[in-house]
Amino acid sequence: MTALRIAVLADIHGNVPALEAVLADLADQTVDEVLVGGDLVGRGPEGRAVVHRIAALGWRGVRGNHEDYLLAFHRREVPDRWWHAPEWAASRFMAADLDGFSLGYAADLPFSLASELAPHLRLVHGTPTSNHEGLGPWSSDGELSASLAAVAEPLLACAHTHRSFERDVAAGRVVNVGSVGLPFNRDPRAQYGLFTVDPRGETTVELRRVPYDRDEIFTRYQSTGFAAQGGITATLLRLELEHAVPVLVPFQRWAEAIGRPLEAGELDAFLEFYQPGESLRGFFERLGALEV
Ligand SMILES: [Fe+2]
Repeated sequence: MTALRIAVLADIHGNVPALEAVLADLADQTVDEVLVGGDLVGRGPEGRAVVHRIAALGWRGVRGNHEDYLLAFHRREVPDRWWHAPEWAASRFMAADLDGFSLGYAADLPFSLASELAPHLRLVHGTPTSNHEGLGPWSSDGELSASLAAVAEPLLACAHTHRSFERDVAAGRVVNVGSVGLPFNRDPRAQYGLFTVDPRGETTVELRRVPYDRDEIFTRYQSTGFAAQGGITATLLRLELEHAVPVLVPFQRWAEAIGRPLEAGELDAFLEFYQPGESLRGFFERLGALEV
């Protein structure tokens, strides 16, 4: 019996150039199964194209919170404000980009699944109980153990926080495969996980990082109309891509803390307060001081 290799890619976020770089990297590997960890769409310009590409490859996957958000848009299950507020312009663009096929595909994705070839591997988007909460390098051993206790398998693959890590605890192993299209670990390369199960059943994990031409995704921000129509949110997402750190949520927290609107005119003041790439802890400490 030879070793089995299972690739897990997640959080592509409408970034076709990053996805294509990962597909090219996968073509150089001997991979027996590929699983997709959700968030094919959202936070990027070409969700529909990503869904069609993955669907054509026939890979199984799970539903991320961004599939849920855009499905909610189409089902009109979102607050009225989302239909007209400037900060929701990017979401309106991304929802309008999806066609019937991609909406049906997203709706049919399961919340979690087990590998067919390595049944000791369970994939979820965030945690076994939520696709909008996630595990990061900061998560305690107790949190990882609680997640493992919620599933039958001893190997849990996850994503959502856009920060890869691998850690063993008594109950098993948790691997966050990171993000293909929008990493937050200060490394802008497209990231995914490659699991190798040797003939004895031992699993090793390689967290791969694939360089790609980021000018191409910035070009697509323009050519698709996302940059022009996506408002302040598209601008903040572009900064996230450039720096491979969160910018959108820090902007929202800053604006909320000082009572400013979530609008483009606030961007310069925000970027005086927060330099993308600085420590988020320092940012939140300064923000906390403002709120007192
Ligand atoms: Fe995500």
